[in-house]
Amino acid sequence: MPSTASTQLIHSAQEARAAVEAAKQSGDVIGFVPTMGALHEGHLSLVEASLDVCDRTVVSIFVNPTQFGPNEDLDRYPRDLEQDLQRLEKLGCWMVFAPSTEEMYPPGSETLIDVGSVAGTMEGAARPTHFPGVATVVLKLFQIVPADRAFFGQKDYQQTLVVKQLVRDLSVPTEVVVCPTVREADGVAMSSRNAYLSTDERCQALSLWKSLQLAKQLVAEGVTDVTELNRRVQQHFAAFPGVEVDYVAFVEAGTVQPVTTIDRPTVMAVAARVGKTRLIDNQLLNGA
Ligand code: PAJ
Repeated sequence: MPSTASTQLIHSAQEARAAVEAAKQSGDVIGFVPTMGALHEGHLSLVEASLDVCDRTVVSIFVNPTQFGPNEDLDRYPRDLEQDLQRLEKLGCWMVFAPSTEEMYPPGSETLIDVGSVAGTMEGAARPTHFPGVATVVLKLFQIVPADRAFFGQKDYQQTLVVKQLVRDLSVPTEVVVCPTVREADGVAMSSRNAYLSTDERCQALSLWKSLQLAKQLVAEGVTDVTELNRRVQQHFAAFPGVEVDYVAFVEAGTVQPVTTIDRPTVMAVAARVGKTRLIDNQLLNGA
């Protein structure tokens, strides 16, 4: 329900934690949505999910440098705090925590969290420093915003597994809630990085969603051999010259374990470069 009180913008970790702890003391259930800003409907769906089940919702906006590789898009990552705040205010978000890089990583910061094998394949193989950066910042954010529940998008499937592993292994008392991927009308998963795409690239980007649809359809028709599915998916991508596939993975749902036959709930995950922009998407192919 939209709140009438205005959203508070907090830059200091100490202030944010004090406000969250005071709200918890008064008995409120706190929901938390960590983001890197440039908010779109996908992010806002997480905020809405939190607003539905929590008394107060905190959104963090922080473009986390430790999860970007040296030649990635940290510098040009879209930033629009003013517009983000307006959107969050309209929804009835209680607090926006938007720290500076120095606030999150004071000089001398060195700890990096290694969550183990779940971070080793797919995105972890393509971007070796990515998940240590994600796990570290998420743990720090959970320390600063000790929420009852935190909301993450299925869009970043492997990230949800990394965060769940982190929470389990390090006894973080926050429940991780995973929400469905929000898509554009044509099926392309919403992403802050879609803003980089030219008109032609945006058309080519549809190939990721179409590859997921194709595989789902083949599975429904009885194709269960992953080698054959892979062959058909690669054939599909061959029709999109502007798309360079990084990986196509078929993994047991809830894990990063590759499967050879679709005989259990299976997630297909895909990563591809469209021009200079790296996009990812995934979908459950079968089962509940
Ligand atoms: P960011 O890419 O801004 O995404 C913030 C949250 O929004 C993540 O949980 C992500 O999975 C979710 N999200 C993004 N696009 C979505 C879509 N189309 N539908 C549903 N949810 C979507 O993910 C990060 O930031 C960072 O790695 C972070 C967790 C904040 C750590 O820095």
